[in-house]
Amino acid sequence: MVLVSPSLLSADFGNLRNEVQKLEKSGADWLHLDVMDGHFVPNLTFGAPIIKTLRTASNLTFDTHLMVENPEKMIPWFADAGSDIITIHFEACNNPQQALRQIRGLGKKAGISIKPQTPASEIISLLDDADLVLVMTVNPGFGGQSFMSDQLEKIAALRHMIGTKNIYLEVDGGINPKTAELCRKAGADVLVAGSAVFKTSDYAANINALKTQGDLP
Ligand code: DX5
Ligand code: ZN
Repeated sequence: MVLVSPSLLSADFGNLRNEVQKLEKSGADWLHLDVMDGHFVPNLTFGAPIIKTLRTASNLTFDTHLMVENPEKMIPWFADAGSDIITIHFEACNNPQQALRQIRGLGKKAGISIKPQTPASEIISLLDDADLVLVMTVNPGFGGQSFMSDQLEKIAALRHMIGTKNIYLEVDGGINPKTAELCRKAGADVLVAGSAVFKTSDYAANINALKTQGDLP
């Protein structure tokens, strides 16, 4: 069964502790934490101190997505804050292999993410250093954008490249019950969703729809 990692970006920022606890009770598998620096992407969100505080509120797997330029110096901050998975962007580092090894060296799972314009072939040589591959299905920076269906081919190609390796294939951006089904069929095993989870107060139903809609009874 696919895992759902709700993105906190669409939560009520004035009430984060309760939002995280509600997600945990609603069947979220992981918690997706979008860190943006205003350079790599044209938006700013939150940093390690917020994540550290939320760590005391939840046992969920903390899935931290670093949309920051040159993440190397910040990786230890997010490891210390209690992230379980730290994902960096291929496009943001001079030496992505070294950054992935740095993350693993701190005892965390290491993820590599690619923007829509970056071909899957760019990261083949990094798979042995990665525990997760994150395919962006929107241009990173904001929640609530439309899914780019031309990325489905990339998801399928990465599923093939990953083969039997123990690597999660995660997708992020524009995921709703309909696009979730397309991604599951293309081989994704973790779905990030912001607006689709927070669109109504029934987070459990919204999460469940991402896992099961379109499946035969
Ligand atoms: C976008 C972020 C996403 C975003 C997804 O740059 O990486 O995680 O929150 O939001 P939705 O699901 O609304 O597209
Ligand atoms: Zn994200």
